[in-house]
Amino acid sequence: LRIGVLFGGRSAEHEVSLLSATNVMRALDPAKYDAVPIFVTREGQWLQSRFEDGTLATPSGGTEICLLPGGHGRMLAVPADRPPRELPALDILFPVLHGLHGEDGAVQGLAEVARVPLAGCGILGSATALDKDIAKRLLKAAGVPVARSVTIDEAAPPSLADLEDRLGLPLFIKPARQGSSVGVAKVNGSQEFDRALSEAFQHDSKLLAEEFVRGREIEYSVLESPEGELFVSRPGEIVPAESHGFYNYNAKYIDENGAALIVPADLPREVEDAMREVAAKAFRALGCDGMARVDFFLMPDMTFLINELNTIPGFTNISMYAKAMAASGVSYPEVIDRLVSHGLA
Ligand code: DAL
Ligand code: MG
Repeated sequence: LRIGVLFGGRSAEHEVSLLSATNVMRALDPAKYDAVPIFVTREGQWLQSRFEDGTLATPSGGTEICLLPGGHGRMLAVPADRPPRELPALDILFPVLHGLHGEDGAVQGLAEVARVPLAGCGILGSATALDKDIAKRLLKAAGVPVARSVTIDEAAPPSLADLEDRLGLPLFIKPARQGSSVGVAKVNGSQEFDRALSEAFQHDSKLLAEEFVRGREIEYSVLESPEGELFVSRPGEIVPAESHGFYNYNAKYIDENGAALIVPADLPREVEDAMREVAAKAFRALGCDGMARVDFFLMPDMTFLINELNTIPGFTNISMYAKAMAASGVSYPEVIDRLVSHGLA
């Protein structure tokens, strides 16, 4: 089976994608899969890559790849100095891209146009989940609890006093369409607020101000079977190091001791089950299919709310998706097999 693994990408999570895709490549059983790595540059070009000695090549030029519309996976290789030639067709496309232009439905739409099966979540669920503003509206409509927030448009940002009235302090400022906490800041006062807005607006024209939730960070992995049944994993817990204040980009990927992962999380059984049900409900509410990681905050009184869904969750060494699945009896290669079966169904 020829599986095209897309990685890199245009978003601020380009580097995270390299880590995720390296692990995906390692988990692809060569007896079953002929993996074709395709590097997406920060500008969005698709370039032929290689996987050698456990490392993915990230070329700065070379042979461009193009997926033919309606071609059922047919691809052209377009070298800089020679005429294009056709490559063996892909059987399935696996985008291991995080954030905008990869996790937001864009590449999923391209797979649809190319009529090539896709591993993971489709167009609609990808688009709704990536936009934290839209996702919250759909979750609220479905009766799923979320943190209180105010959507901020670049044209008319509110004052901090106004936000403080509605959300209290501290509060979080987040770009609406970003992952890995890029551009996210905790705000206690006006100086921080101005800095947080200008930083976040560098990443998106739409932001969210969100109430500060003092809760445990609990995550579930959701994987859909080819028949449409949802498998929801045991929960995992993330305990960020005190020094980072919250589970930010540095705590995630830079500082080796930035956070501890506890899998399975230590929760009363009935709480674990109640959250599992809400994870499935949230997955459906956003129109997801295939896969997502559902992130919660659990309060000391055992009430909880959903922080967000990630339809292409991290597959890095420190990422929760595969760990929570493994703790539920589904190994990393098995996760990939199931995603592929779902995509081919
Ligand atoms: N956005 C990152 C990759 C995650 O959710 O794991
Ligand atoms: Mg995210």
